Amino acid sequence: MELLQDISRQPLVTVKGVPLIKYFAEALEPLESFRVRPDDLLISTYPKSGTTWVSQILDMIYQGGDLEKCRRAPIFMRVPFLEFRCPGIPSGLEVLKDMAAPRLIKTHLPLALLPQTLLDEKVKVVYVARNAKDVAVSYYHFYHMAKVHPEPGTWDEFLEKFMAGEVSYGSWYQHVQEWWELSHTHPVLYLFYEDMKENPKREIQKILEFVGRPLPEKTVDHIVQHTSFTEMKKNPMTNYTTIPTNIMDHAVSPFMRRGIAGDWKTTFTVAQNERFDADYVEKMAGYNLNFRSEL
Ligand code: A3P
Repeated sequence: MELLQDISRQPLVTVKGVPLIKYFAEALEPLESFRVRPDDLLISTYPKSGTTWVSQILDMIYQGGDLEKCRRAPIFMRVPFLEFRCPGIPSGLEVLKDMAAPRLIKTHLPLALLPQTLLDEKVKVVYVARNAKDVAVSYYHFYHMAKVHPEPGTWDEFLEKFMAGEVSYGSWYQHVQEWWELSHTHPVLYLFYEDMKENPKREIQKILEFVGRPLPEKTVDHIVQHTSFTEMKKNPMTNYTTIPTNIMDHAVSPFMRRGIAGDWKTTFTVAQNERFDADYVEKMAGYNLNFRSEL
């Protein structure tokens, strides 16, 4: 078995033009044997867009709002990560094989790398998109604390890599665009992090309708309360503190870091912001996708 120090800070591996964490790249071939089930629900996001948040919301919905049932395991066991692989730890595929239906499945894969069966079988997808500037800042801090990524370099260097799609999972711009396109032909509920921040109850109602699991208003309020940033930050079943510190070091930056819209303003310089905006207009041209970078 590879030693933990050996799995740290490995260079990304490019698959079909998409840079990936080495072990996740190696998980793709075995994923060809992934067997979809009709009641699977896929949670898809570009990294740092609110995956853990919407995962906890969905598990609470599936458990009828029962928080105690949601304490049965950490979020990454309750909502397995499809392409996860790390030496010495069960892969996403292995966890999913033994999981009772109905399964909630997390992925960050762009469409080119997603197992085709998920598309062929029309598996329902909840997609969460977050504005690019907050994603870039959140990702920079995550690169620092999650050692499975390469060294992020300086913030300026990282931002350049982000804009060029040279970070793990590739281009944010392409990800949000292609899943948006897919939502026109496939059952995708396309949500925005900023809308969830603005009015979580409204967005949870959309999810309830999409998954066909109505709940009493009191239960919805309970879910809103227990999926707030404050509650999830102190909950060991959602805050990733059960992961060994040599994989995720919360002393460097907590996983539950700020949880707001507009945090990028503390990090972007005026020059970086201007350059980013000019590049953004070009990359997002022709897409009717409006992100809010602040509330
Ligand atoms: P920040 O780093 O900006 O704080 P993901 O789960 O996709 O990796 O996304 C992580 C980001 O979502 C982090 O953003 C984290 O703080 C934020 N987040 C997690 N739970 C949240 C919640 N309940 N409400 C708001 N933001 C949340």
